[in-house]
Amino acid sequence: MISKELAAAREYEKRKSAEVTEEERPVYHLSPLIGWLNDPNGFSYYGGKYHLFYQYHPYSSHWGPMHWGHAVSDDLVRWEYRQAAMAPDTDYDGAGCFSGSAITMPDGRQLLMYTGCDPENLDPDGRWRQTQCIAVSEKPVTDDGAEMDETNEFIKYEGNPVLTGADLPSGGDPYEFRDPYIWRTKDGSYRSIIANANRDESKATQLCLYSSPDGFEWKFDKVLFEDSRHVGLMWECPNFFSIDDRQILIASPMDMEVEDAEGSIRFPKGNNVCYMVGDYDEAEEVFTPHQSAAQEKSEKDPVASYHPVDCGLDFYAPQVMTAPDGRRIMIGWMQDPSMGNLHGEDEFRIFCQMTVPRELTLRNERLIQRPVRELESYWSGRVRLASIETGPDERSIEEIYGRTLDIELELRPAEQTAEDESEECSYSSFSMKFAADDEHCCELIYDPQRSILTIDRSRSGQNDEMTKRRSIRVRRRGGSLDLRILLDRWSAEIFINGGEQVMSVTYYTPIEADRITFRSEGKAVLDISSHKIAADA
Ligand code: FRU
Repeated sequence: MISKELAAAREYEKRKSAEVTEEERPVYHLSPLIGWLNDPNGFSYYGGKYHLFYQYHPYSSHWGPMHWGHAVSDDLVRWEYRQAAMAPDTDYDGAGCFSGSAITMPDGRQLLMYTGCDPENLDPDGRWRQTQCIAVSEKPVTDDGAEMDETNEFIKYEGNPVLTGADLPSGGDPYEFRDPYIWRTKDGSYRSIIANANRDESKATQLCLYSSPDGFEWKFDKVLFEDSRHVGLMWECPNFFSIDDRQILIASPMDMEVEDAEGSIRFPKGNNVCYMVGDYDEAEEVFTPHQSAAQEKSEKDPVASYHPVDCGLDFYAPQVMTAPDGRRIMIGWMQDPSMGNLHGEDEFRIFCQMTVPRELTLRNERLIQRPVRELESYWSGRVRLASIETGPDERSIEEIYGRTLDIELELRPAEQTAEDESEECSYSSFSMKFAADDEHCCELIYDPQRSILTIDRSRSGQNDEMTKRRSIRVRRRGGSLDLRILLDRWSAEIFINGGEQVMSVTYYTPIEADRITFRSEGKAVLDISSHKIAADA
């Protein structure tokens, strides 16, 4: 038996999503079945498929009481919608089923751990009391997916909530306690890290570690990480996992205040996603982030061991899972949370989308991100052009236009090799415009002298209150730069120098604006390879 709230959400999403046309959706990025989507949740592989749940408000294109939407995929690119998995329908989660994660239990059932917002328990500021809750698939799932049909419901555990404010360390704020990230240890027990704000100003935010023998009975172990340096409020949506022999902590700090030593281009003010690379002593449960010797000396940079995950304008609350072949795969919400609700009431029937899932690897203690290789099966119509010259006159290239493309672009100075470290550069700035017509565009600008890459969407139909521009410093390569740019109707994901940095951005130029143009001050040279991405490959 499902609740009347869940039944109503399913009836609504079925009826209303039938009205949404394919043209309203991105081609290869997951958007909500109907209404609004935010964080990825429960990203996992079970029953022979990838599963992605998402923070979901079916009833409007704005954030509202959170449900869990659900989609499945064979290849992380083409997603098939499932009916909503959970609705806010109990006394402990009636104000919202907030973010959480998933794990397969030894008996084959899938367990979801999430945050419930209690509608009856509010503090004077109107914040809901937040507790941690469990829902479990009714039936075990089998590898051929046989038990993963729509009748395999997620049932909320009768012992909910499994963690409350009473399980917080001293000073822990029970109204800012959310987003469990669950994993199993080698001995078969469970751990979860959960974000919490500490009322003690000197601690600000903390990530708490909990343990459980069976996934249902939980106890507080310790504060795994705390940020006493005031770089932000809550560190939402933590992820904690290993790559090779290193341990990675990813979290999404709200309202970061830090300024980069060289002028605020590493972490802009506002919501960010950052990661740390370190060691984890599993027996002692101690995480030690690494700092380079140069970082240790740097007094100016208060966040020396925190690195940005994505330096664009729209990226938040990512979640990382392990694929059956061992790859660590990350997917994020491709939206700046502080700007997600600025559109008009009836402007869209669906709003927000996920990034493309990204393969994560480590190189020199830094995350490298690449679009999942499965995307390449959707390529069609390859265009490859070498040694295209650009100059002060804006130019297009006949075969390269459109809103849904996967473009690889190698930029270099004229008459220099890619590895030439010479300070002299044949061009002083390079610009690429896409989603462009006479009035609109989204623009990528590179300054080779300062190695600064800027994304500028000031002419891309954004609401005026939205952030328009963001710049980052990229690795100095003598005026050379490699970009892979995934365009999908209203978004671009830009992978820089083999994925050592990424910038994600959304824009709202008219869909007919499909020009792509290039120009440079001085002479630059481009090698370009571009593929269309077909929805039905
Ligand atoms: C992050 C977040 C989470 C919370 C969810 C609510 O975007 O604020 O901390 O669980 O969204 O939708």
